[in-house]
Amino acid sequence: MAGLVASVPPSYWQPPADSRIPTGAKGQQIRYGRELIAHTAKYLGPKGSVKPLSNGMNCQNCHLEAGTKVLGNNYSAVFSTYPKFRDRSGAVESIVKRVSDCFERSLAGKAPDSSSREMKAIVAYMQWLGTDVPKGQRPEGVGLVKLAYLDRAADSTKGQAVYVAKCQVCHGAKGEGIRAAGASEYVYPPLWGPKSYNDGAGLYRLSSFAGYVKNNMPFGATYASPQLTDAEAWDVAAFINSMPRPHKDQSKDWPNIATKPIDFPIGPYADGFSEQQHKFGPYQPIADARKPK
Ligand code: HEC
Ligand code: HEC
Repeated sequence: MAGLVASVPPSYWQPPADSRIPTGAKGQQIRYGRELIAHTAKYLGPKGSVKPLSNGMNCQNCHLEAGTKVLGNNYSAVFSTYPKFRDRSGAVESIVKRVSDCFERSLAGKAPDSSSREMKAIVAYMQWLGTDVPKGQRPEGVGLVKLAYLDRAADSTKGQAVYVAKCQVCHGAKGEGIRAAGASEYVYPPLWGPKSYNDGAGLYRLSSFAGYVKNNMPFGATYASPQLTDAEAWDVAAFINSMPRPHKDQSKDWPNIATKPIDFPIGPYADGFSEQQHKFGPYQPIADARKPK
């Protein structure tokens, strides 16, 4: 292996090889599910050929490489861990419910019906991706990295400088992204404004945003070759999540407010910390106050 760098350490999850997609109707369904994750807008975006349900983004914009990239928000643990109880809804959620959440928040739209060909294909694809993952387990490399807290609040002014230097060339001066005239999909998806994820989306939390960009942006970065310091990732998260975006009524979320994550940016809270501090930090004092005495 001289001269070669192994791209995936053996302990990290790897998706099943394509050769393991079954033949026949089941295989076609799995392939259609993957296509919908990678090119959601083509089928379900504003000019979608199936039904205009969502904002023009693709699931793959955030679940990179069709939900297979190590620490790129992959779907390796979806089939193994759902249905599961989630504090946001205060209920046991199925895969369909979790998929619908991303349609309604990250894609700021509506989900296809649970009995639709599209929803069934997405679920079948996630099941296939989880083929080798034992029930209940979350493999190494799943989801997003959790960065250590800064000892200060994340700084949107510093973040703006990061944005201009390292992000704007693709995502645009107004965070609007780039889409060729008449095309159904973005080349570079929007980061804020009316076509972006809404304020109920996972990326609207700074820890999720920072964890996503640390190992994945600028495009081409990986966990093995990150291009941002942790501080740059937190600060650019603060800048982008200070810009305007669609609002989602979340008054029914978090029936037990004590379970809101430390960086959940919308009150009320069960502690005495402000919305400002929950959104931007410093987070450690909040974490300390939550420790059992
Ligand atoms: C704007 C970014 C974004 C887009 C676009 C997006 N998601 Fe997500 N999604 C997230 C984030 C962030 C999480 C939570 C990750 C975490 O907390 O580790 C998530 C979580 C999920 C999960 C749960 C994963 C798990 O292991 O628990 C599923 C399933 C999911 N998304 C499906 C979808 C589908 C299907 C689409 C397209 C309709 C989509 N997402 C589009 C950001 C996005
Ligand atoms: C070379 C072009 C390029 C640069 C530079 C770049 N991105 Fe991206 N970004 C992309 C592409 C392409 C995607 C969608 C990936 C896909 O669909 O496979 C993306 C997706 C994203 C997403 C998730 C989707 C969304 O629109 O919400 C976020 C968040 C993001 N980028 C943030 C950043 C940040 C922050 C920087 C600067 C540190 C940055 N990007 C720099 C090309 C770029």
